[in-house]
Amino acid sequence: MRPNIRPAGSEDLGLVADLDQLCFSSGSWSAVAWAEEFSRLDQDRVILVADEGEVVGYVVLLVPSATEDPVDLLRIAVNPAERRTGIGRQLMSAALQRCAGRTVLLEVAESNESAAELYRGFGFTEISRRRGYYAGGEDAVIMRWQEDHE
Ligand SMILES: CC(C)(COP(=O)(O)OP(=O)(O)OC[C@H]1O[C@@H](n2cnc3c(N)ncnc32)[C@H](O)[C@@H]1OP(=O)(O)O)[C@@H](O)C(=O)NCCC(=O)NCCS
Repeated sequence: MRPNIRPAGSEDLGLVADLDQLCFSSGSWSAVAWAEEFSRLDQDRVILVADEGEVVGYVVLLVPSATEDPVDLLRIAVNPAERRTGIGRQLMSAALQRCAGRTVLLEVAESNESAAELYRGFGFTEISRRRGYYAGGEDAVIMRWQEDHE
């Protein structure tokens, strides 16, 4: 079943927070942090969910109102049981459609090859690194996308 990608509403808060826990375990955002994200939906946050009758994936963007400022892609994840079926690509595609004419930045752990491959597939390129940024000393890779990157 191909999921419906739709904007999240307040009714999705608990489901998305639970899925985040499943996807990131100790690195998941707290219930308070998720409540803060959802409280900013009418301000500078865009949260899209992949809905198959249940929420199987989500993406979170910070979209500043000043269009010259870059959008930050803060989070993307898919239920482990549903990975590698194209849902991440669908979420990214829907997210980037909302970023026409803008620059998008994100940060990915050096070892996170699945996410980095997904990002590269959309034309994200590495622009810098934060050395030893993550616990354990792993680098954070900063990647950038621009609609007119080609
Ligand atoms: C990254 C993530 C969102 C990808 O979601 P997904 O639904 O499995 O991705 P898709 O099935 O749409 O794959 C799209 C492309 O991404 C790349 N990709 C995805 N998983 C991959 C893997 N395990 N290894 C290598 N490349 C991978 C491939 O290029 C793939 O295209 P292909 O299947 O035609 O080769 C998912 O692996 C995930 O939730 N990871 C944990 C959370 C995370 O680390 N998020 C990023 C940091 S916030």
